[in-house]
Amino acid sequence: MLSHEDNELLCRIGAGTPMGEMMRRFWMPAVVLGELAPDGKPVRIRLMGEDLVCFMDSKGEVGLLDEHCPHRGSSLALGVNEDCGLRCLFHGWKFDVNGQCLDTPAEPENSKLAKAMKVKAYPVKIAGGMVWTYMGPKEAEPPFPHFPWFDVPEGHCEAFRMIYECNYSQALEGAVDSSHAGILHRSVPWSQEAKWPHEKDLRPKLEVEFTRYGLRYCAVRNADEQTKNGRMTQVPLPFYTFIPPDGPKAPEFRRNRRLINAFVPRDDYSTWHIQFFYDPGLKIDRAHREAESGVQVDENFFKTNGMDVWYNQDRELMKHGEMSGITGVALEDHAVSETMGKIADRTKEHLGRSDMAVVAFRRMMLKTLRRFQETGELPEADQSRFDWNQITAETFFFDPEQKWQDIQPLADGLQPIDAAA
Ligand code: FES
Ligand SMILES: [Fe+2]
Repeated sequence: MLSHEDNELLCRIGAGTPMGEMMRRFWMPAVVLGELAPDGKPVRIRLMGEDLVCFMDSKGEVGLLDEHCPHRGSSLALGVNEDCGLRCLFHGWKFDVNGQCLDTPAEPENSKLAKAMKVKAYPVKIAGGMVWTYMGPKEAEPPFPHFPWFDVPEGHCEAFRMIYECNYSQALEGAVDSSHAGILHRSVPWSQEAKWPHEKDLRPKLEVEFTRYGLRYCAVRNADEQTKNGRMTQVPLPFYTFIPPDGPKAPEFRRNRRLINAFVPRDDYSTWHIQFFYDPGLKIDRAHREAESGVQVDENFFKTNGMDVWYNQDRELMKHGEMSGITGVALEDHAVSETMGKIADRTKEHLGRSDMAVVAFRRMMLKTLRRFQETGELPEADQSRFDWNQITAETFFFDPEQKWQDIQPLADGLQPIDAAA
């Protein structure tokens, strides 16, 4: 449970809100690179409550601009993308990737208006198959973080995006909640005998460790009498979850395949669910991965099999096939988080031990936010400080005499400042 005030602090991300200001201090993934082409169709994107347009110019440079033309406000996404700029359809004002106005064809020939005119443009970087942006104050722009999935060979990392129709924190909390794995994602109806270890042991022991970058937690299950199974998830602030691969006993394509979720606020009531799948040893099959997720989206990335059609839940399948009657792991996750409401009223929750990592995430996020409000610093969440190769999510097996931290020690320097003091 969270007080109404803390819930508002956690969830509201508009410009000028405390969380909105903190989140804007991080680089965030925005558009999948494959959606853009030189002189191709501009992509509209709502991000952090702002309406933006992303386009690739004739030379392959990418721009991310305010969607609305500074002349009289028409959408630049309607515009003509050619000859190194985006030209507004209404009166032809043309802007380059930096937002500089290049031409105002309806103005007098000697007009100085174009030179003086700029549309808001955010800086961009390309990495891991995505266009990233930074929306915070220019003077506070952090170095671009170097994540491990940027370095895998071509085709070994694929990025996807879709919209969660709820607040970012709700979507994220679904990914730090290992105890739902054997229930929501159960492969057989509830009344039938469980198949997989995580379905048999429904009470994983969750243990959380706070870290400099956020937190990590391990779900420990009994694999058999002599062995424990650990699944360690990383939760780098402000909106990532690093999900472990399925480990040595899984089919080959899932054995070492890693998943990074970024839950980037679209606005207070919806979220970009960005997923990077990567595997250093195998290529990622995009079509197969899309089918596996179960989420189907329209051209604006809203689900076509979402709440309006009640996630196409199939009651027959629930009797004879599987627990949820909803096809696809990601669609199941979207269903349970969205049906809480766009911003869940956390004053009404009744939390248990299984929610330990969820509580830890909220606590760390609010603590980091309060420190940011007091000092203007992000001492525990500045991504540019870390060697991200030290911060991976893992699946492993170990002896019941051991602790999971013995197998996965926290690298030096990653303890939180308070704990180190
Ligand atoms: S509104 Fe864009 S040029 Fe007039
Ligand atoms: Fe899930």
